[in-house]
Amino acid sequence: MTAPRTIGIGILGLGTVGQGVWKHLTEKQTDLESRLGVKLDLRRVAVRDLKKKRAVKVPSTKTTRDPLEVVDDPKVHVVCELIGGTTIARELTLRALRAGKVVVSANKALLCQHGPEIFDAVRRHGGQFLFEASVAGGIPIIKAIREGLVANRFELIVGILNGTCNHILTRMGEDSLSFADALKEAQQLGYAETDPTLDIDGIDAFHKASILAWLAHGKWAPRARTLVEGIRNIGPADIDFARRFGFALKHLAVIRRDFKAGWMTVGVYPALVPNRDILARVSGVNNGITLRGDVVGATTLTGRGAGGDATASAVIGDIVDAIAALTGAANPGLSAESLAAREQLGRQVRMANLDEIVSPFYLRLSLLDKAGVSEGIYRIFSKHKVSIARVIQYEHPNQGRGTVTLSTYPVNEAKMSKVLTELRRLKTVLEEPVVLRIFSPES
Ligand code: NAP
Ligand code: HSE
Repeated sequence: MTAPRTIGIGILGLGTVGQGVWKHLTEKQTDLESRLGVKLDLRRVAVRDLKKKRAVKVPSTKTTRDPLEVVDDPKVHVVCELIGGTTIARELTLRALRAGKVVVSANKALLCQHGPEIFDAVRRHGGQFLFEASVAGGIPIIKAIREGLVANRFELIVGILNGTCNHILTRMGEDSLSFADALKEAQQLGYAETDPTLDIDGIDAFHKASILAWLAHGKWAPRARTLVEGIRNIGPADIDFARRFGFALKHLAVIRRDFKAGWMTVGVYPALVPNRDILARVSGVNNGITLRGDVVGATTLTGRGAGGDATASAVIGDIVDAIAALTGAANPGLSAESLAAREQLGRQVRMANLDEIVSPFYLRLSLLDKAGVSEGIYRIFSKHKVSIARVIQYEHPNQGRGTVTLSTYPVNEAKMSKVLTELRRLKTVLEEPVVLRIFSPES
């Protein structure tokens, strides 16, 4: 069969995740098409309520209340199941797979409860089931285990897998919000499940842990053999204890494997994590997963674990993989088309000029110990409109010199370079200034 040059995409559900997928697929369509060397046809979107107000505009000719119009459309090759739950979502997923289609899913409950049935349908009918978005939002953890870390056996996988729980615990701990208010906020931000008890009772994290355990060890963990605890009982006193004694209170999923003894354990529960552990610093909606592999050692991935945009990133990654498989492209990231698209992109890019590169700076100056020296220094900063944020002066009695350390507010490289040139000319500056940029991902 010749590979289709136009790939039809159907979306089931236009809620938090569905809208994120629509938004970013339409925004990136041209770029994706040139990378993949195919046309993308965003054909049909199924919703429950056609009249609902949404953040994205989908032409009414493309929306339907009948999800079968999406699944059964012969021109839809990739079906994105973003409805959730395990009833209609199961029926639609199996129907699409039995027609040999690709299903891209964010539905961890469905995969955890019906994984064997789903993969049986994949095997029998030659379709695909891709589920990157089902665990840890935008973090490509499934791909990491399946591909990048394939050389490893994992004795430990430990992670924060529920964004809602982490958001609640962070807001209670850092901002003294009540449990109820923090949960409400997580719901408003689109992090929580339609039924938020799945989040706060640990069931959503269990679904995700079970998927990771299956992926890493080939075994579905039965719920009855898994410790599943949520965060309902956590109160301010618990968070206070953690803070006082050097811990962070986190909701963890822990998958241990003893290769010698042959056992695996899966547990999800709130735990005290020592502050020195990287997971203790994963806050808000972020998720973090540490994998201890026998080859790579410990590797941690962190990033946004819930929300429309982060989850859309994972769904679109799967769509691209699916299209690569459908069209026979070996590696969508490095195909001839994608290299050509990058070259084209590169022609629109220039390197930034020095007056466009901005950051706060730190300086250490070794100065002659004499009245008026500091004023001379500050005059140079003020002449170039560089504002000083903090200053510390160190005196070195009887040495005839002092040290000044200071930080600036954000300033561009060109201005800072002028300040430094003038500082170097001063006889009162005794050594080459030590200059450090104060790094922040935002600047
Ligand atoms: P959501 O906001 O509740 O959206 C569900 C969508 O499904 C709605 O647009 C709804 O239509 C539609 N729908 C429900 N029943 C339908 C039916 N019978 N036919 C057609 N459409 C129907 O849920 P979500 O947060 O986007 O989650 C979707 C899935 O992604 C779930 O499996 C969830 O676990 C998973 N997930 C969510 C996140 C997240 O951060 N939210 C992250 C990762 C994975 P109406 O809008 O018309 O009511
Ligand atoms: N409700 C889930 C969470 C969505 O809060 O982590 C992401 O799977």
